[in-house]
Amino acid sequence: MRIAIHPDAAAVGEHAARILASTVERTPDAVLGFATGSSPMATYEALARHRRDGLAFDRVRGFALDEYVGLPAEHPESYRSVIDREVVQRLGLTPGNIRVPDGAAQDLEAACRAYEDAIRASGGVDVQLLGIGANGHIGFNEPTSSFASRTRVKTLSPRTREDNSRFFGGDVARVPMHCLTQGIGTILDARALVLVATGTAKAAAVAQMIEGPLGAFCPATALQLHANATVIIDEDAASEL
Ligand code: GLP
Repeated sequence: MRIAIHPDAAAVGEHAARILASTVERTPDAVLGFATGSSPMATYEALARHRRDGLAFDRVRGFALDEYVGLPAEHPESYRSVIDREVVQRLGLTPGNIRVPDGAAQDLEAACRAYEDAIRASGGVDVQLLGIGANGHIGFNEPTSSFASRTRVKTLSPRTREDNSRFFGGDVARVPMHCLTQGIGTILDARALVLVATGTAKAAAVAQMIEGPLGAFCPATALQLHANATVIIDEDAASEL
């Protein structure tokens, strides 16, 4: 695991964006794994600067990590909407090239299997961007998730619903109870992992991920098993190392 510590969130985003941009320079139809939440937004902002400088993203293919269950795709806080708004439009991606798990599907288990099949058919993810939850989750793999898990339905923990209520007008009752998420095993299959974290709220989870024993109580410790994982954090997120 490589660790880079930067003074602020903007520098974290620039570093992560350089890794993604150099992948797209080498391989214009690279398969990227996209994350939602606040943490990767500085990375997408920095990538938009690479686009303005002439890097073309129109052939890039991509997969989102996760999606809420039960929100219509057009809901502004569905991850389909967030990915379309923050990533597809900003970077000029081709919408049909970017998939998000279908949290509105009638048959959620079939939707999960179809998602795994689509990732496999793409040839696999070249670089997966990740955030980390304050409880150590990656994607929506909450504590106790199996390291061998694949894309599946999960129940969100009370902590995660509380943390994400800010996207739902501060009302935790409006945060869905369930989600679809790539499993930890799915995430570990990506050829490279880039995890970004900023702020003191993430410091304990970051310390556990890097220095803690491998274990399902902190799903992000699974990154210790990956041969090409880069953790890019600011000084606040590094404060408990
Ligand atoms: C969210 C997402 C994760 C994200 C994490 C941290 O709920 N499902 O992919 O990494 O929680 O979110 P944030 O970056 O907003 O703190």
